[in-house]
Amino acid sequence: MKSTTPRPKRNAGVKKPLEVPFPVRSESRNDGSAPREPRRVTTRTIREMKRRGERVAMITAYDYTFARLFDEAGADILLVGDSLSNVIQGNETTIPVTLEEMIYHARLVVRGAREHAMVICDMPFMSFQVTVEEGFRNAGRIMKETGAGGVKIEGGERVADHVRRMSEAGIPVMGHLGLTPQSIHEFGSYRTRGTTKEEASRLKHDAKALEEAGVFALVLEKIPAQLAKEVTDSLQVSTIGIGAGPHCDGQVLVMHDMLGLTEEFHPRFVRRYASLANTVREAVSKYDSDIKKGKFPNKEESY
Ligand code: KIV
Repeated sequence: MKSTTPRPKRNAGVKKPLEVPFPVRSESRNDGSAPREPRRVTTRTIREMKRRGERVAMITAYDYTFARLFDEAGADILLVGDSLSNVIQGNETTIPVTLEEMIYHARLVVRGAREHAMVICDMPFMSFQVTVEEGFRNAGRIMKETGAGGVKIEGGERVADHVRRMSEAGIPVMGHLGLTPQSIHEFGSYRTRGTTKEEASRLKHDAKALEEAGVFALVLEKIPAQLAKEVTDSLQVSTIGIGAGPHCDGQVLVMHDMLGLTEEFHPRFVRRYASLANTVREAVSKYDSDIKKGKFPNKEESY
């Protein structure tokens, strides 16, 4: 017979999502108390952090539960990276992930980023390459359909017009230079970029072009630390490094790498802050054995 006992809701007791995603600065308060700082990170916060020399902590996220934990832990930016193609979908490259899939995951992450973090969603391969207008329309879809605070786009001067079109319409854009995984078939490898004089000067030129076009921040992936320092010092906007040394204005890691879920991936720039793969395997193996031995559930775990 079907139980009539109501099943406790999984999210019972959980705080309701903020109804106002950007808590307003309370200049209008008339009780004499000091105005509260807005807590939600915005492009303005990122600009101010650069001015004050404060570092930006960015981490990738792809779902509600992790986004919520990262938000509570104080991460400034949650990036719905197209690395979701690799770590969530199990593809070899970032090429296959679609705009629809990015939108779906970005929505989940926005739901989890309840208090603090800004959510940025990657524009996947072929969502912006065809024309500036198509890229603009797709960036607009991401903003409207997910609630993200901005988009990220790979490429240098060749995407400057895209960036200009989007930022003029109020869509915050993060650039991405150095190793740009969507161009894997153009380069043929994931080697360090910017190691020759020509590549380094091209990258500096691209960084300036993106800044002039309106990016609010720029990911620098897998380039020499000295080059990242020179780019960082030359820009008003924040640089966010991954494999780009310690001089960037912020850092980003893929969550599966820094939490030790992807054990087979060992680039030197990844620092593992946990070994979740082991923890998960051990937990599930104990669960499996408890079930098979009739140890789970016990009396206290039954009704
Ligand atoms: O897709 C991604 O996760 C990224 C980061 C590595 C910067 O672009």
